Amino acid sequence: MLKGAALGRSHRAKVGKTKLADVIARSRKLLGIPDSYMLGIVPASDTGAVEMALWSLLGERGVDVLVWESFGSGWASDCKNQLQLKDLRVVKADYGKLADLHQMDWARDVVFTWNGTTSGVCVPNGDWIAANRAGLAICDATSAVFAMDIPWEKLDVVTWSWQKVMGGEGAHGMIALSPSAVKRLETFIPDRPMPKIFQMTKSGKLIDGIFQGETINTPSMLCVEDALDSLKWAESIGGLRALIARSKANLKCLEDWVAQSSWAAFLADEKSSRSNTSICLKIKDPAFTSLSADEQSMHVKSIVSILEKERAAYDIGAYRDAPVGLRVWGGATVETSDIQALLPWLDWAYGQAMTAFGEATRL
Ligand SMILES: Cc1ncc(COP(=O)(O)O)c(C=O)c1O
Repeated sequence: MLKGAALGRSHRAKVGKTKLADVIARSRKLLGIPDSYMLGIVPASDTGAVEMALWSLLGERGVDVLVWESFGSGWASDCKNQLQLKDLRVVKADYGKLADLHQMDWARDVVFTWNGTTSGVCVPNGDWIAANRAGLAICDATSAVFAMDIPWEKLDVVTWSWQKVMGGEGAHGMIALSPSAVKRLETFIPDRPMPKIFQMTKSGKLIDGIFQGETINTPSMLCVEDALDSLKWAESIGGLRALIARSKANLKCLEDWVAQSSWAAFLADEKSSRSNTSICLKIKDPAFTSLSADEQSMHVKSIVSILEKERAAYDIGAYRDAPVGLRVWGGATVETSDIQALLPWLDWAYGQAMTAFGEATRL
């Protein structure tokens, strides 16, 4: 697969630049991004892409940030503590719930996460976003893009990384900008210093090169090759529809299992906002819920380590800031047969951990 890779070559050489431009072109085509949108490769993964948008665009008008898990919470905290935005509203919901989308005032800028990776709660669609908005809709969509339908025309900034749904090597971010976002970049000069890796304009004009493969700084050509490999794989299996169908089949497999489980339930309250990529489970068994918070956490750690020891699952514990539970990645690269194979292991590990805990407390 590395035959023909631009390894050891400059990303500014024709061979390197062509490959970077190819990532942009293939991503645009696969995702159906409108021609009027700019799409670029930027430093520092999805975080870099989101932060360059927040730093470059916010402050021209009031800002609403929607928060229902830790990544949204991080963006809200940056808006408050780093950017120190004067007119800021944070609309929050607990883990498992979705913030009240209908509170939005589209005269303001709105920052939100399409899929809350740490709670398994996603927005069901873009119907709640005004078509004729004066503010910008700024969306961190890293665990949604390539596995969920994204209504591009309803969004002004969309960001993601190569390693999430496409399973490529991590390092670089992608940023898509609507014509309104570009207009804001070219007309609004924020009153704050702008690090070089966040700069998308020069002398009031968008730096077009960023959106044609001339990256701001040096990318890894190994990661670029891997991104191309995953995009070509996606094309070969039938494109976006096939990717979404694979991920939805993974959720369905877990849904069928949860429906008959005596101990597991979804953290997401509503089916319509349940993620098909970051599938988060909580434990509903009264024998578990009656334990103290520390005991619950110990119990889940023991499930995680039993599964890891058996090499049945890795990193299956809930995110560190999320309620205790398990999280199964159901993105498009995951085979449904692997999820199916995991399910008996989950029941077994839960039983093992409960038994061990019961014995320890009897001693
Ligand atoms: C919703 C969301 N936003 C941001 C990030 C951070 O992404 P990265 O590590 O690509 O910067 C993640 C990572 O899991 C995420 O799930």
